[in-house]
Amino acid sequence: MVSRDCGGTVEKMKAIIAPSLLAADAGCWGQEIELVESEGITCLHLDIMDGRFVPNITFGPGQVGMLRKHGKLEFDAHLMVVEPERLIPAFASAGADGMTVHYEACPHLHRVIEMIREQGMKAGAAVNPATPVELLAPVLSFLDRVLVMTVNPGFGGQKAILPMLKKVEWLQAEKARENLSYEIQVDGGVDRQNIGQFLSAGAESIVIGSALFQPGKTRENIQAFMRLISEQEAVWQGKA
Ligand code: DX5
Ligand code: ZN
Repeated sequence: MVSRDCGGTVEKMKAIIAPSLLAADAGCWGQEIELVESEGITCLHLDIMDGRFVPNITFGPGQVGMLRKHGKLEFDAHLMVVEPERLIPAFASAGADGMTVHYEACPHLHRVIEMIREQGMKAGAAVNPATPVELLAPVLSFLDRVLVMTVNPGFGGQKAILPMLKKVEWLQAEKARENLSYEIQVDGGVDRQNIGQFLSAGAESIVIGSALFQPGKTRENIQAFMRLISEQEAVWQGKA
């Protein structure tokens, strides 16, 4: 835990990495989950796409259920689908620990959040780059996680849209002002060169796909990202 100055208020935070499995070779998903957990990763990001909310199609609750036996770490399903509420029971049964739905896909977002929590999962809400994060203000107190998209969802390997980090700063300030407890997550385009900017803005959970899962290099990449996070925290603590 470190102290950091965040818009005049002092916040305690320890950032974590949430690897996005989509970037890994699908033929090795089981082994890759075991590898990341052995490196101390506590949360796995699962990108669920339906070909309607986003142009791409990935995998569903069936595959999540099959992967469950490969790790005990948190399975966090990021649903880039229309009508995500229809999938809540299936993901809960598959062993998902958390479900993040898009603000843009939920006209009745509060109801969907309640449904996720009733199934015993952590509830998250995501905003696309073009959506103002302030629109989440009425539901922030019901959320376990807020996801700021730093790319337009649909594909891994895109370049981060860094002005989105202002949303992270707003979420940090709001969290302190209202004494809330949601985790602030960022997703899209994070690499070794720009991770410092995400951390400085106040990101607490950092989704990383293509810069982390690389054939034969996943372990060294995780260690490198963890080192960068520790170095940043040491600077905040005045130890570096
Ligand atoms: C984008 C997904 C992201 C993405 C992350 O639609 O939500 O999780 O796959 O991958 P990178 O880190 O490659 O942007
Ligand atoms: Zn994602």
